[in-house]
Order: sequence, then C-alpha cells, then structure tokens
Amino acid sequence: MTTLLTSPSHEGATEQGTYFVSNYPPYGAWSRQGARDAIAGLDLEPDPGRKLGLYVHIPFCRKRCSFCYFKVYTGKNSQDISNYIEAIAQEARLLAERRAIAGRSPEFLYVGGGTPSYLGEAHVRELIKALEPLTGGAAPPAFTFECEPGTISRGKLEALQELGVTRLSFGVEHMNDEMLAANGRAHSRKQVLSTFALAREVGFAQINVDLLAGLAGETDDQWTQCVEDTLALEPDSVTIYQLELPPNTVFARDGEVEPSRFADWPTKRRWLREAFARMQASGFTLTSAYTAVRDVERARFAYRDHVWRGDDLLALGVSAFSHISGRHHQNEKHIEGYQTRVSRGELPVSRGHALSDTERLVRELVLGLKHGSLDLRELEARHSAPLPDESARALEALEGRGVLSRDQTTLRVTEEGLLEIDRWLPLLFDPIYRRGI
Ligand SMILES: C[S@@+](CC[C@H](N)C(=O)[O-])C[C@H]1O[C@@H](n2cnc3c(N)ncnc32)[C@H](O)[C@@H]1O
Ligand code: SF4
Repeated sequence: MTTLLTSPSHEGATEQGTYFVSNYPPYGAWSRQGARDAIAGLDLEPDPGRKLGLYVHIPFCRKRCSFCYFKVYTGKNSQDISNYIEAIAQEARLLAERRAIAGRSPEFLYVGGGTPSYLGEAHVRELIKALEPLTGGAAPPAFTFECEPGTISRGKLEALQELGVTRLSFGVEHMNDEMLAANGRAHSRKQVLSTFALAREVGFAQINVDLLAGLAGETDDQWTQCVEDTLALEPDSVTIYQLELPPNTVFARDGEVEPSRFADWPTKRRWLREAFARMQASGFTLTSAYTAVRDVERARFAYRDHVWRGDDLLALGVSAFSHISGRHHQNEKHIEGYQTRVSRGELPVSRGHALSDTERLVRELVLGLKHGSLDLRELEARHSAPLPDESARALEALEGRGVLSRDQTTLRVTEEGLLEIDRWLPLLFDPIYRRGI
C-alpha cells in the first residue's frame, strides 16, 4: 500500500511523459484480437440502458502547436479534405448497418480534432451530410464543434448554427501573444477577441474556452492576467488542462523539455487552484476536475457526461476511439491506411479490447471520479461484477491521503484531490495495467 502511494510522478518538474487519463484499460492493452472482438460486438443487440453518441475526428490544422499530442496533419489541401470527408461518409454507411447501431438516435455529436473549424463552410456541410446514415439527417440535441480562433468567419459560424451546433469550444490556450507565439499557436489574442464577439453576435448559447496552464515560458503574472482576460470574455464555461509533454509533441521530439522552460507540477496545480477560486468568486461552478461553468442549469456537456458514465460512443475518422457494447476500438492511425480500408468497404479498426464486467466497472469509477463525486452504490448496481479488492483498497488509501472522502456511499474528491486527480486514478487500475506509471 505504501509503495502504491509514493509514486513520484507529477511531483516536481514537468518531464516528458503523459498525465491525463482518458480511458481504461489503457491503450497499451488493446490488441488486434481485441479489434476482432470489437467488430463482432457491433453485431450485438444494443443495451437499452446505454445511450449512443457520435464523435468525428478532423485531423487537419493550420500549424502544429509545439505542445500538441493529437493526431493532426498540416498542409492538406481542399481535395485532401474532400477525400477524407468521403471516407467518413463511407465509414458512416458501413456502421449504420450494424445491429448495435442501426435505428438508434444519437444523443450527441462531438466534432473534434485537430481543428474542425479549419474546414470551409462547404466542407462542413458535406461532413454533416456524410453523417446522415447515423443521424437520420437531424442534428442530435447536443452538438459541439471545436474551433481554433484564427479559422473563423461570420459565414462559417452562421452555417454551424444552421446545422444545429449547440456548443462551440474555442482552443484559446492563452490570451498573451508572446505565449501563443512561443508555443507555436497560429492565432493571436486579437483574433480570440474578435471571433468570440462574432460567435456571441451570431447567437451561440454555449461557448467554451480551453486554456492550457504551464505553456513554455509562462510566468505567474501571465497566467493571472490570462485568467482575468478570459473572464472578461464572459464564456459559458472554461476548461483548463495542465500541460503535459508526451513523446509525440514537437517540444519532446526536438529535445526542448528543459525544467527551466516549463512550470513544475505544483505550480500548475496552484495556478489551477487560483484560477478556479477566481472563477468561483465570479459565480462559476466547478463541474469536473477541468471545467468551471457560469450557469449549471444551462451549460451541458453531453459528450463528457455520457462518455464518463459508460454510454456507447461511436467515433469516426482516423485514429478515433470508440466504445460500443462494452468493447473499445481504435481506427487506423494514419490517414492513408484509414482511407484505403474504408474504400475497400472494410471497417478501419486497427486495435481494440473487450472489457470484462470488472473492467467496465473500474472504467466508470475512474472516469466518474473526474466529476468530483460518484455514487458507489449506484455504480455497483449498474454492473454484475463487484468492485475489485485492489480498487477498494486504493480508494481507502486515497481517503487516507486526503484525495477522497466518503459520505455513506458517495465518494467525494476533495478540492485538492481534484486538482491532481489524473495523478491518482491509475492507482485504481488492475495492477497488470499499472506498469510504467
Ligand atoms: C483538439 S484541441 C482543441 C481545438 C483546436 N485544435 C485548437 O487547438 O484550437 C483540444 C485541447 O487539448 C489541449 N491540449 C493539447 N495539447 C495538450 C498538452 N500537451 N497538454 C495538455 N492539454 C493539451 C488543449 O487545451 C486543446 O484546446
Ligand atoms: S492544439 Fe489544436 S490547433 Fe494545435 S496542433 Fe493540436 S489540434 Fe491543432
């Protein structure tokens, strides 16, 4: 138990490596056999207790930001984008026939990237049309579209609204031009201000701003000012990530991960604590470890809430991750391989993992705790397997460490625990998946 809790990771300098826990079991456990199991799972009767949502990955960006770890391509032209959308259309047709999907109405659609707003208006319309076999032509009730501030025009925003987008998410990252340039962002502060105002004028009810704490060279004063400038925009929600430097980032690849250039983990956590305290003082409420919202009644983030609760997620596009009928799968990681396979009429799945009942429960525990609280009895009632002993022991240890408290059957993550939740979640994993953490 003691060894379990003395993991040195994320205590000091920001070193090369990963931090954010996005799924369970971790991707390293997914395999080719798992891909076959996942494809077979697409022919199972859907579980009536699980909703369905759609994700579409748009892997194009104007420029690769130095800190970014997503699957993105720069320098693709209009024909490349048309070809990609045609592949999405073909993938949608293939998926819509499968028993686990056919006839279901998605609760949400999340178009993420990459930079979805890199697409011109005509391409955006083609993309939404491409999804018709899955949506039936009607926009799902919750529809998020990710935008990079330098890629927005009034015409594009009006088209997005007409197509049913309910929530815009702007990758702002920082409000200081020096910071933006030093970290390879393609947009300026001025563009943030003008596109945000335009989005309000066009009338989007929900606008989220993503910020990144700990960009290269960032100081206390710059962070504090960034939070003030963000609040001045009056966004509906603010999502703050702590910078991590996985090996595929430009910073890591170019050997630029020097402790003197990046705020350490305790500093990033302090910045998050200060930012959220400032937002709470302005009337915002924390709805997860990363997000503060202005009006809890109105601000909905369906994608996050459904995925963290274990609902079905059908993800289209290169490298996209799905979770259907209790099975994970990931699409081909390279655009050429992805497009070739769908053009042959094949599902472009490259790896997957069929979760045991216990793994499904642990996954929903791990993701659910990111909300800040979770009803353990309700979680156990949803699954046929009990909470495994090692996860139960880890929960007790986290209580002892002040990360969690328990009130009858509700687990509550403490304020401090929430700031560093991704550091502790791997302790709830099955020990076979904890190697390398
Ligand atoms: C796909 S991007 C958002 C949309 C758009 N591509 C943009 O950047 O404007 C999703 C978010 O991931 C976060 N992110 C990217 N690289 C990160 C890193 N190395 N560490 C932590 N968060 C990161 C950023 O906050 C970014 O807004
Ligand atoms: S952070 Fe956004 S804009 Fe930058 S490379 Fe990544 S996906 Fe593209």
